[in-house]
Amino acid sequence: MYQVLARKYRPQSFDDVVGQEHVKTTLRNAITQRRIAHGYIFSGQRGTGKTTLARIMARCLNCEKGPTPTPCGVCSSCLEIAAGSATDVIEIDAASNRGINEMRELRENVRYQPSRDRFKIFIIDEAHQITNEAFNALLKTIEEPPSWAVFILCTTESHKIPATILSRCQHFSFRSVDFDELIERMRWICGQEGIEADDEALAVLAQAGEGSVRDSLSALDQAIACAGGRLEAAEVRSLLGSFSIDAFARVAESLEASDGNKMLDLVDELERNGQNLQHFARELSRYFRNLLVARMAGESTRLIAASARERGELAVLAQKFSEEDLTRYLQLALDLYRDLQFSLQPRFHLEVGLLRLVHAGRLESIERALAGLRSEPRSEPKPRAPIAAPSISAAPISAPAPALRRGPSPFELDRLKKAGIREPQAASTAGANALAAAPLISGAEIDWHGQILEGLNALGLTFTADAIAHAEISASGNEVTVKIPNEFKLMTNVTELQQAAQKQQLGPVRFKLIFGEVTSAPVISTPKAPQESELSERALAHPEIQRFREAFGGEVRAVRNLKE
Ligand SMILES: Nc1ncnc2c1ncn2[C@@H]1O[C@H](COP(=O)(O)OP(=O)(O)OP(=O)(O)O)[C@@H](O)[C@H]1O
Ligand SMILES: [Mg+2]
Ligand SMILES: [Zn+2]
Repeated sequence: MYQVLARKYRPQSFDDVVGQEHVKTTLRNAITQRRIAHGYIFSGQRGTGKTTLARIMARCLNCEKGPTPTPCGVCSSCLEIAAGSATDVIEIDAASNRGINEMRELRENVRYQPSRDRFKIFIIDEAHQITNEAFNALLKTIEEPPSWAVFILCTTESHKIPATILSRCQHFSFRSVDFDELIERMRWICGQEGIEADDEALAVLAQAGEGSVRDSLSALDQAIACAGGRLEAAEVRSLLGSFSIDAFARVAESLEASDGNKMLDLVDELERNGQNLQHFARELSRYFRNLLVARMAGESTRLIAASARERGELAVLAQKFSEEDLTRYLQLALDLYRDLQFSLQPRFHLEVGLLRLVHAGRLESIERALAGLRSEPRSEPKPRAPIAAPSISAAPISAPAPALRRGPSPFELDRLKKAGIREPQAASTAGANALAAAPLISGAEIDWHGQILEGLNALGLTFTADAIAHAEISASGNEVTVKIPNEFKLMTNVTELQQAAQKQQLGPVRFKLIFGEVTSAPVISTPKAPQESELSERALAHPEIQRFREAFGGEVRAVRNLKE
């Protein structure tokens, strides 16, 4: 009778098991050092070797030559365990034996010595299915079992195992198996079976397995059944209903060319070929994720589960997009996938989703737009180029001229750093060099508060004026320390202070800004709280807001006073 590959090639020794190095090493050492625990929990993704390693462990413990990390494989214990007929290795499927009665029975059974072998090993599969009550019945046994009992609980959902049980067992989490290791394993099995398979075909199968050896081997079984002794990527793909990277590359190319038409053609083709559109959306998310990773980590990264050829192609395509674009595409693709799952009209949804991607490529990031706004000199408002320039190019983001206004935003700083431009100096220190040669004037007699406020008001710099009205000012020589309440931090602009000082002809001044609580009342009486209409008038007159409106359009609905 035909035996499926997964069973036929179930590893019989630690060395056979792919991946899971952390588990293998620890178990091997435990056996060599005779430090064998009574309770183990093996948890992790399906088909990654939990049951397999539990059986190997049983062999190690019960081999006639053992306990040994390298069981002989020929003694009756080893043979019986491999065949699943060893009386002292008891496998319980908790999915169908989950109740209190079964666990009571088990508890009874544990008390009797092994019939022949050294240990009595209970492998409990799908352990998360055991009811709470039943777990409680087991607690005592797992905590203080007879010396011959070993429990191995296997589960895909360790969070469903009660903490009381977890704390009495050694817990190993199994990882999904690396793409390359999966391919290697399948290549070896194909060799054993006399099957010819090209790398690309194996990559498709490994992708289908998503880190599970069993799932990959099931796909391989299916492929062999269909294609016979020679596996080719295209055939395997159509068999598994998976998409070639070329289909997704077409999406990326349409995006690059901002060509919605091509997208519609693609959807039409998918539907005519009877492809599952939900599945396509899901794989599209994966594709953008891979593009993003390729953009960030380069083509040699092991974070992409794809063949070398595909990784190369991804890396080339990724360079045509910015990280921001790819992140946005990924987000949109994920949204699309989510929407499609509930859609009665998957085709239309997919079309809308793909067109949305095309349009998304044209958006400029808000940070970049803002940075552009800020770096523009305020004196000469000029018509702005439309913001909606396609930003799909991979050209490095041009750094805005270092803005001295209000200090750069974190986004700007980050961008400047990446563009290799040093952080712009705060105006206060930038002016310092120019001041060095200037003679010191005695600042003691000057009414700094009144003068600066007057200057600011004369210049119409109302925001900074507001801040100064609430500030505390002290001067020593030409260094003027301005202490500003925190809530005015955003409104204060050191360049404007300089302008005011110039306007009032106070000579060269170096401003030092401190933010914090202002204790003493300001010298000058604060103007009464502005009325709402006055407030919005002032806000609308602010040059920055004007530029903002020029660029983005829209209307100002409400003006909020941050001080309140
Ligand atoms: N790490 C691995 N190395 C080699 N083969 C593996 C590995 N993991 C799984 N396999 C293959 O997959 C089959 C199933 O593995 P196993 O029963 O150990 O999975 P499992 O983790 O217990 O899965 P489940 O959670 O579904 O019970 C094995 O017979 C073997 O062929
Ligand atoms: Mg299992
Ligand atoms: Zn043996």
